[in-house]
Amino acid sequence: MGCAISGLAQSADLGEKKVLKEGSRLGEDSIEIIKESWKVIKDDIAKVGIIVFVRVMSFIEKSVARLDQLERLEALAVNLGRSHYHYNAPPKYYSYVGVEFISAVQPILKERWTTELEEAWKTLFQYVTGLMKQGYEEESERHNQAAVSPKERVDKRNTAL
Ligand code: HEM
Repeated sequence: MGCAISGLAQSADLGEKKVLKEGSRLGEDSIEIIKESWKVIKDDIAKVGIIVFVRVMSFIEKSVARLDQLERLEALAVNLGRSHYHYNAPPKYYSYVGVEFISAVQPILKERWTTELEEAWKTLFQYVTGLMKQGYEEESERHNQAAVSPKERVDKRNTAL
């Protein structure tokens, strides 16, 4: 409000709007629908689009490097599942990521892409996403337990006995 920096930001914002309106004749309605549709686009991209894809690529890089040390790959994937609990990214979406990854890499390999290779990648994704799901559920369970008060935990234990 009274702050010099926020004042500058406000006037810069107004300036930009004016240029857009005069320069490209974008009316209020167009601006509004662009803003609205961008919210949807952004949301979708964050779910299964480019951003996820770049992250997935870096994860696959690490996974491929651990293919001969499965216990290290397992730890990596379980931890990733745990962190996805905190990102609010549930396992029901993980399979879409594998499908998308496969359809993106297929054209790169052209004729080197075979049914056998496709099956191998699908298996890797099933393996990794299964472990991610395990990590996600462990973390969710841990949080549910933490949400229960120590007294309730004791009571529950007594009932089970
Ligand atoms: C096979 C499935 C997926 C893989 C391998 C994967 C991989 C990754 C990796 C490597 C990161 C970087 C941060 C970290 O290591 O914890 C990340 C972050 C994240 N992922 Fe995923 N992801 C997958 C699916 C999804 C899905 C389906 C969603 C959304 C529904 C999602 C949402 C996010 C979010 C919100 C972040 C945090 C971004 C940030 O704060 O920078 N991920 N993911």
